Amino acid sequence: MEYEKWDEVLAPYNNAVEELKVKFKNIRKEFLTKGEYSPIEFVTGRTKKIASIVSKAKRLNIQDIEAEMEDIAGIRIMCQFVEDIYNIVNLIKLRSDMTIVYEKDYIKNTKVSGYRSLHLIVQVPIYFHDANQNIRVEVQLRTVAMDFWAGLDHQLRYKKSKKETALIGSELKKYAEIIKEVDEKMLKLRHEIEAI
Ligand code: GTP
Ligand code: MG
Repeated sequence: MEYEKWDEVLAPYNNAVEELKVKFKNIRKEFLTKGEYSPIEFVTGRTKKIASIVSKAKRLNIQDIEAEMEDIAGIRIMCQFVEDIYNIVNLIKLRSDMTIVYEKDYIKNTKVSGYRSLHLIVQVPIYFHDANQNIRVEVQLRTVAMDFWAGLDHQLRYKKSKKETALIGSELKKYAEIIKEVDEKMLKLRHEIEAI
């Protein structure tokens, strides 16, 4: 595809990322304005790079990326506590401006790598070229501890040497366990503090 064509295809996805970033940041603001605790700590977002879209389409033999690739638009929401993640999912379910298509819970079902996060595929109407288009967005919800782990794991996945990455991978898997324990203990402590 030519680059002008890519701009055209990716424009509504860019808009979806920008609009959802604002919406989730506004949820945080709303809680803070009321003097309440916010389940959202911070939000990031990105549109998948053209090179990544092309290589994923080749790898998975995807013909129609708009119909079949669900992570072109991506939002990441970081929280302090595991229960915040489920509270945010409930908040999203109450909203009329985004619809959850499906959910993948890698917190309850940790990946073999040790990866933990809750993924939602949401659909949002994006007004573009005088029409409403339903755009799918992958929303990843995780604690800051899970995010810390995923960052290092991602970095490792880019390395080539098989022997060493396998070794570090199994080390990382142990740390995923430790982080899970810390997340659970922090939540327990929070409940104890709230009860005082
Ligand atoms: P992808 O082809 O990667 O999109 O896999 P998928 O369609 O099966 O979806 P999945 O829910 O497994 O993963 C989607 C995204 O979650 C990835 O693009 C990563 O951002 C993140 N992810 C999944 N597994 C891992 C992992 O083991 N480590 C890290 N760091 N991130 C992961
Ligand atoms: Mg995916």
